[in-house]
Amino acid sequence: MINKDLDDLYQKLAQCVCAEDLFIKIKSKNAETFTKKIKEHYRKLAKIAHPDRYQDAEEKEVAEEAFIALNRLYNSALQKISDGTYGDKADDSSSFFIETAKRPYFIDETIAEGDLATVYGGHCRGGEDAGQVAIKVAEDAEDNDLLKCELRIVKLLHAEASTYSKHLPVILDEFKTTEGQVGIVMRKIDGYDLYSIRDKYPQGIPQNHVIWIFRRVLSILGYAHSKGIIHGNIEPAHIMVRPHDHNVYLIDWCYAIYKPATTGQGFKCLNEDYSAPEVSERKPPIPASDLYSLGKCMVYLLGGDINTLEMPASVDDKIQRFIKFFCRSSPLQRAQDAWQMYGELDRLRKEVFGSHKFIEFIM
Ligand SMILES: Nc1ncnc2c1ncn2[C@@H]1O[C@H](COP(=O)(O)OP(=O)(O)OP(=O)(O)O)[C@@H](O)[C@H]1O
Ligand SMILES: [Mg+2]
Repeated sequence: MINKDLDDLYQKLAQCVCAEDLFIKIKSKNAETFTKKIKEHYRKLAKIAHPDRYQDAEEKEVAEEAFIALNRLYNSALQKISDGTYGDKADDSSSFFIETAKRPYFIDETIAEGDLATVYGGHCRGGEDAGQVAIKVAEDAEDNDLLKCELRIVKLLHAEASTYSKHLPVILDEFKTTEGQVGIVMRKIDGYDLYSIRDKYPQGIPQNHVIWIFRRVLSILGYAHSKGIIHGNIEPAHIMVRPHDHNVYLIDWCYAIYKPATTGQGFKCLNEDYSAPEVSERKPPIPASDLYSLGKCMVYLLGGDINTLEMPASVDDKIQRFIKFFCRSSPLQRAQDAWQMYGELDRLRKEVFGSHKFIEFIM
């Protein structure tokens, strides 16, 4: 259980796109007084976020993340005050923007065009990293239900700050276009999906990198499954990797299934390459269905063949066997429990690679 003040601050920081959002109520024309007031407010928040305050490992990790975000916004506020640009509402250069009750979002590029939605890259006024956004808009209002599902599920997963939050998309805002399509504004992830990684490394990436990516997806899946949520569409486009700190994100929760045993919900889509056999057989969704898709994604990332499950000879036999355990057709003979597999993988990692070393992943 995360300390309430820390939880509140974490959630607030997650919603800030620029320094002005955090220090919103502080105003002064005199730069010196202004800086002083901002410093005072920062100190109050830094006390809550300071990782040294917490003994519990989970609280400490959440605090570390909050502390980094807080310092980034604080330094940006000081910089803007010194430049005289704090609170500037200058016109933006992008001609295309979407305005919600919260703020305008300026569109800069198209990131991806799916069957169901288009993802645009954009930014908020203020020009900071925190203000880079990805905006997902339904192609057609008929598909709104799926985007609404993503909104609901991601919010549920973020309901309390946890060490898992950093592996999930962060939703900043939502809107409807004049044609009635639902749009979701997310913080932009400065990472690469597995397709982009294979584009850069056509032969696949080494097993020691696949291990940490595998491990992190297992941890977030364990968390989602413990909340009764099945992702329902794990494929290479839905796993994103941030190389510099080895963070991994599981995205696109449009097809997620909530507590199928009580809600009666079934699978919402079939992916010819990555869905488990029970999806086309229209059987009830189970956590093991996600594990099947994840196993296939790992075969793909290693440069293997997702149909025959053949992997490069350089991949350790024990790791190959472990991955194949995820890809068994029969759900009952397959890996069942993400957290248990996370533990297994840790053990396997030690056995194959010895003590853990951070190896830089270059993209
Ligand atoms: N928050 C984000 N930051 C950066 N890139 C993102 C983000 N969300 C999505 N993307 C990129 O856009 C791609 C598509 O995203 P997503 O799967 O959520 O939507 P979609 O495929 O267009 O929708 P659908 O699969 O439901 O038709 C991802 O594979 C990823 O490369
Ligand atoms: Mg998608």
